[in-house]
Amino acid sequence: MYSEKVMDHFMHPRNIGEIPDADGIGMEGNPVCGDVMKIYIKVKDDRIVDAKFQTFGCGAAIAVSSMVTEIVKSKTLDEALSISKATIANELDGLPPEKMHCSNLGADALKNAIVDYKSRHAQ
Ligand code: FES
Repeated sequence: MYSEKVMDHFMHPRNIGEIPDADGIGMEGNPVCGDVMKIYIKVKDDRIVDAKFQTFGCGAAIAVSSMVTEIVKSKTLDEALSISKATIANELDGLPPEKMHCSNLGADALKNAIVDYKSRHAQ
């Protein structure tokens, strides 16, 4: 039911934790299940150079958090903004249909982190 990649990122999540001097922080909650995800980003020259997460959520949400913080590294802010829930699910070799909403958290928390970064650096 879960792909090997989902299980791998759930059992061995990458990039857990916080970035104390993050340039942007994004949080997103799922009103249906109550799960919450927080993503921290470091940005240099318009590019995301580091990302970490803290997630209070299901196994799929942990795997999504781990994957999104992996794929976002070295992307420009515009490239990162184009990462959708479908992108994340595809990178994980799919999620069960009833777990697709968990990938929303990753895409939305990342977008919120970028919006936070941009609002902090607005001229
Ligand atoms: Fe809540 Fe997966 S069940 S994010």
